[in-house]
Amino acid sequence: MAMPGTGSNYEILTREDFSDVTYLLEVRHPRMARAAKPGQFVIVMSHAEGERIPLTIADFDRDKGTITLVIQAVGKTTREMQRDCLAGTHLHALVGPMGIPSHIGEAKKVLCVGGGLGVAPVFPQARGFKEAGAYVIGVVGFRNRDLVFWEDKFGAVCDELIVCTDDGSAGVKGNVTEGMRQAIEKHPDIDECIAIGPPVMMKFAAETTRPHGIKTMVSLNPVMVDGTGMCGGCRVKLDSGIKFACVDGPDFNGHEVDFDDLMSRLGRYREVEQKATARFEESCHMREEFVAASAQEASKD
Ligand SMILES: Cc1cc2nc3c(=O)[nH]c(=O)nc-3n(C[C@H](O)[C@H](O)[C@H](O)COP(=O)(O)OP(=O)(O)OC[C@H]3O[C@@H](n4cnc5c(N)ncnc54)[C@H](O)[C@@H]3O)c2cc1C
Ligand code: FES
Repeated sequence: MAMPGTGSNYEILTREDFSDVTYLLEVRHPRMARAAKPGQFVIVMSHAEGERIPLTIADFDRDKGTITLVIQAVGKTTREMQRDCLAGTHLHALVGPMGIPSHIGEAKKVLCVGGGLGVAPVFPQARGFKEAGAYVIGVVGFRNRDLVFWEDKFGAVCDELIVCTDDGSAGVKGNVTEGMRQAIEKHPDIDECIAIGPPVMMKFAAETTRPHGIKTMVSLNPVMVDGTGMCGGCRVKLDSGIKFACVDGPDFNGHEVDFDDLMSRLGRYREVEQKATARFEESCHMREEFVAASAQEASKD
């Protein structure tokens, strides 16, 4: 018998593409949907020989028995999943929910900030705060209007929503820190901020709130291997010492995080990752050539 949450096949019910690199998978897993809390993540293997990768539970629906993952195709595994994980197919393994759930406390006014793909993982926290009775101000940032996703879904759990784009093609021109500055100016009584996105964005988000003394939580994404606190792969440096993001996080106080250390550790395996991606692209190319040649042969018959 499969262990709860492991070693079985999980059907992908919905696949939605937000852009040529960002896609959503809604996966059937009633027990995971019942157990999931904002801020938690899963470790996924898309096929039996696949790499195990951590992905945030961007949404969960206890009635439907589904969890939602939003994925950015950045390298071999996430591109392979982009190609193969279609509605009706199955994920090979899904372990979780992992990590300490986000603390949805007594804050009365909360700033929820998502940069790019970070909009997805910050959504359950924004919804959690809204359900707990807080006034929720959302700030979401994208490079341009074409990359905007979940504006309606996110807006539905926010009392105010500020959309920012780097090129000004939608909402406020500038990155999320511009939207944060506007929100803080209008609401000097914000109790707490949650900021999720690329490490450099979280670093600057934390610097934006620091002078105002607003508690700021960030969700860290170091390279994870086992996800059990044993391998040390996901160690992150905080003012208070070393922590392991998989078991002590992934949420941490952004004012204590050494983001430069995180960014340099994230680049440690770049050469190997680039080689794996190049090999994957070459195999895709050969597959396309084979399919085209087979189709040509078949048309002659
Ligand atoms: C707690 C957590 C939650 C995450 N949630 C999401 C999410 O919801 N959506 C999403 O698209 N991505 C998420 N990520 C990042 C995702 O795991 C990586 O993008 C993915 O593992 C890259 O694998 P790859 O083979 O496609 O790319 P690779 O070419 O192998 O790597 C590309 C980059 O991804 C990072 N990465 C590589 N391997 C890992 C790993 N095992 N663990 C973490 N980071 C890695 C490194 O920065 C690397 O430079 C999360 C990471 C963590 C730690
Ligand atoms: S992933 Fe191994 S200790 Fe966290």
